Amino acid sequence: MSKKRVLTGVTTTGIPHLGNYVGAIRPAVRAAQNPDTESFLFLADYHGIIKCHEPEMIHQSTRAVAATWLACGLDPERTTFYRQSDIPEVMELNWILTCITAKGLMNRAHAYKAAVQANVENNQEDPDFGVEMGLFSYPILMTADILMFNANEVPVGRDQIQHVEMARDIAGRFNHRFQELFTLPEVKIDENVELLVGLDGRKMSKSYGNTIPLWENDKKTQKSVNKIITNMKEPGEPKQPDESPLFEIYKAFSTPSETAAFTQMLADGLAWGEAKKLLAAKINAELAEPRERYNELTADPSQIEDILQAGAAKARKEARELLDKVRDAVGIRPLK
Ligand code: ADP
Ligand code: TRP
Repeated sequence: MSKKRVLTGVTTTGIPHLGNYVGAIRPAVRAAQNPDTESFLFLADYHGIIKCHEPEMIHQSTRAVAATWLACGLDPERTTFYRQSDIPEVMELNWILTCITAKGLMNRAHAYKAAVQANVENNQEDPDFGVEMGLFSYPILMTADILMFNANEVPVGRDQIQHVEMARDIAGRFNHRFQELFTLPEVKIDENVELLVGLDGRKMSKSYGNTIPLWENDKKTQKSVNKIITNMKEPGEPKQPDESPLFEIYKAFSTPSETAAFTQMLADGLAWGEAKKLLAAKINAELAEPRERYNELTADPSQIEDILQAGAAKARKEARELLDKVRDAVGIRPLK
């Protein structure tokens, strides 16, 4: 039986934080070790330039995101790891798919609808004010990413479910109109995903400025951890896990028995200051090795580039074969 193919993309905007690590990177690296699957992971830089118009940010973030995955244990021998923009076949497929995608389908995409809604609320005369074609067609590019490698399963966050459904729709339309060339992808949502809380108790997110960065040194991590909100309880007073977001972060970096012991220490009156020292020590211990690797990689980005180029070569070989069939199916063929 052929292996199940799992594919996902990561947009290259922003520098990874502990939430990304616990919720996305750590589980994906573990899942890629499953011998029954074949995994594809790519840096979605063409998606990055839809939302971010700062070239330096795109560039830095591409380096940071690539180094992060490698430092956290992604094995480029097992996982086909590449940069979207290194696969020109994806762009060709993007156009062919654009030619069979109903505009009405794109009108229903969440990101576009949200932009229109914001214009209406701000009494903008033109509901499409500020909307670029990249944003409007975003789901078609994502469809090309997925169909190019005939992925069976696409693990994504809840906000991306609609896009994978659109990819199924577009694949079905192509198969019906031309030739059965595309696998219909299935979305995979991990129900048990650990949502990490931020310093202020809300979901940790770069948009809220409440993150603990992944790649700081031990001292800076301690400093960030010291900012986690707590109540005013004195040392010696019994404390409950739900009295500070620090508990949930501790849990994400500990075994169940370590978490139980920590709960007991809080109940016995552990001072918040001491609790923060224990938490920072946990984070720093788990990340010690990855941090070393991250620093090595970012100090010599050509290592990262070589890995990405090797991944792209592997990916393009496959992409080319399928794209040739797709072109032929739509009537783009050599004359003879
Ligand atoms: P941000 O909210 O900082 O902008 P993204 O939306 O770029 O993060 O998310 C990238 C990945 O990290 C997604 O797979 C998302 O599910 C995961 N992720 C982001 N924040 C958290 C969090 N606080 N806890 C768990 N996973 C998270
Ligand atoms: N749009 C996805 C996100 O913002 C990233 C992405 C791009 C992706 N292409 C993909 C995810 C293909 C899965 C499959 O998270």
